[in-house]
Amino acid sequence: MCGIVGYVGAKPALDVVIEGLARLEYRGYDSAGVAILADGGLSTAKRAGKLVNLRNALEEAPPPAGTVGMGHTRWATHGAPNDRNAHPHVDCTGRVAVIHNGIIENFAALRAELTERGHELGSDTDTEVVAHLLEEGLREAGEGGLPEAMRRVCRMLEGAFTLVAVYAGDPDVVVGARRNSPLVVGVGEGENFLASDVAAFIAHTRDAIELGQDQVVELRRDGVTVTDFEGKPAEVHEYHVDWDVTAAEKGGYDYFMLKEIAEQPRAVADTLLGRIGTDGRLTLDEMRITDEQLREIDKIIIVACGTSYHAGLIAKYAIEHWAGLPCEVELASEFRYRDPILTRTTLVIAISQSGESMDTLMAVRHAREQHAPVLCVCNVNGSTMPRECDGVLYTHAGPEVGVAATKTFLTQLVAVYLIALYLAQVRGTKWGDEVFAMVQLLATMPDKVDKVLETMEPVRELARSLAGERCVLFLGRHVGFPVALEGALKLKELAYMHAEGFAAGELKHGPIALIEEDLPVVVVVPPRARAVLHDKIVSNIQEIRARGARTIVIAEDGDDSVEPYSDTLIRVPAVPTLLQPLVATVPLQVFSCELAVAKGHDVDQPRNLAKSVTVE
Ligand code: F6R
Repeated sequence: MCGIVGYVGAKPALDVVIEGLARLEYRGYDSAGVAILADGGLSTAKRAGKLVNLRNALEEAPPPAGTVGMGHTRWATHGAPNDRNAHPHVDCTGRVAVIHNGIIENFAALRAELTERGHELGSDTDTEVVAHLLEEGLREAGEGGLPEAMRRVCRMLEGAFTLVAVYAGDPDVVVGARRNSPLVVGVGEGENFLASDVAAFIAHTRDAIELGQDQVVELRRDGVTVTDFEGKPAEVHEYHVDWDVTAAEKGGYDYFMLKEIAEQPRAVADTLLGRIGTDGRLTLDEMRITDEQLREIDKIIIVACGTSYHAGLIAKYAIEHWAGLPCEVELASEFRYRDPILTRTTLVIAISQSGESMDTLMAVRHAREQHAPVLCVCNVNGSTMPRECDGVLYTHAGPEVGVAATKTFLTQLVAVYLIALYLAQVRGTKWGDEVFAMVQLLATMPDKVDKVLETMEPVRELARSLAGERCVLFLGRHVGFPVALEGALKLKELAYMHAEGFAAGELKHGPIALIEEDLPVVVVVPPRARAVLHDKIVSNIQEIRARGARTIVIAEDGDDSVEPYSDTLIRVPAVPTLLQPLVATVPLQVFSCELAVAKGHDVDQPRNLAKSVTVE
């Protein structure tokens, strides 16, 4: 939530910052703003709405050219998304500017104190207090200048924050601070960058520094200094980003989401890469959790939000079946508010593509406080969760810019299958042969996903024909149930339609009352090999059709039994039941995306959403 960019170098800062903001706009698009230091002064510009509004305003009234600056794209927390509440916020002197991602929880008390001391605050945001506190901090910091003022201010703040500030009196420096929200440094030649995500500076450098918790960074043209909030030098982790700028561009597609759906075969293949040995055994040494530890585990709890939660629901079936371990799945936002029973032999798995979702991060901390080992499944190197967890299994989806998760979901599925199968391998469970066969089948999944993508034109046509509908239901059984939930979530967030996913077995316990003439109902049919599941869902299809529903059926190649009851039949390759979500989800992604485009929506930036939810 909120995208942040800072720059110090030789290039025009405005161009670098705006280019960075364009790559970070997926993080929030309620407003955008910039601050540039030039000619001994500070100039700012900000506009409500998408970045294009700010670009237009800057064209009409360009700020003086400078080589030090910062920018922000906002997902509103405190204060309406208008010009006044847009970042940057400045102090009373107009010489200090600050941008922020997160929530300053004690801002009301700080604001009252500042007002008492004579400051006039003009916005409704929590951020503005920081600009005024920095103004005071600069008076006290003396020679320490802006970095020292920032450290002083950070010590007063409660909550989650990434802050970046510039000061006209210290014109060669940009200062950043982070607690619980992401901030990375890009290290260039004679130039340095700060950003919420490496995508902002990937066109300039692939060398990055991961900032730790409670650190302040001082960025100058020729160097980067990192300290803790007390001013002690801090240890940092340098790394090289393994993808380049083309991965963060649309590459000829109209939307990032379309590109990301198309990239799924590669993303699945990359996530498998190097993890299946020539002898068919899995190698997950990178996980940082030893086989010894894994053998001691007697329970697994998965915590995640949204789409990642759906990956967790599917993981439960895989873990219980292959590894023979009891597995619970919990919404991360609920986890720490009950009293989960955790021990040193409970493995908690946090699934988060961004590695930054605050709800999941808090669940991770809660689990670790109770001494449970925590493993995370994450797509973003350098993000907070991998650093805080005992172990990590990275997905290799590459950068996902579209707000709706697509390729990261499929790679999360691959990761949780790998974990389940690996657990079975190291624990020697009774499913030995099946595990071996499954590993071989996993290796064939990129091709299967590719096949699904080749046959999507009828799904797109169907989606366009349903653009006038108000509601779509999704049904599934077994792992098809989380797939149904995911299909409904995608449709809600992209097409702003009422969409619900149900376990097909629950239909007669209530939801069937929703069925009316011509209501579109999407049904995910399990493979015929699971005859009990399969036949039950075929009966469910007949029940809803008898009540007038328009049935859209996703079934494996060769399954003729569903034909008589399908108004539209979508074929997917035949794969084992547990792996079916990898192929069955793809048509649902294409369906939602096309339907939303037909309704004229921006599928990359759906209303009210942001990619990384870094507030609770
Ligand atoms: C939906 C979507 C969200 C995320 C959720 C968790 O398309 O993207 O529901 O899945 O916000 O995000 P991560 O995985 O980053 O923790």
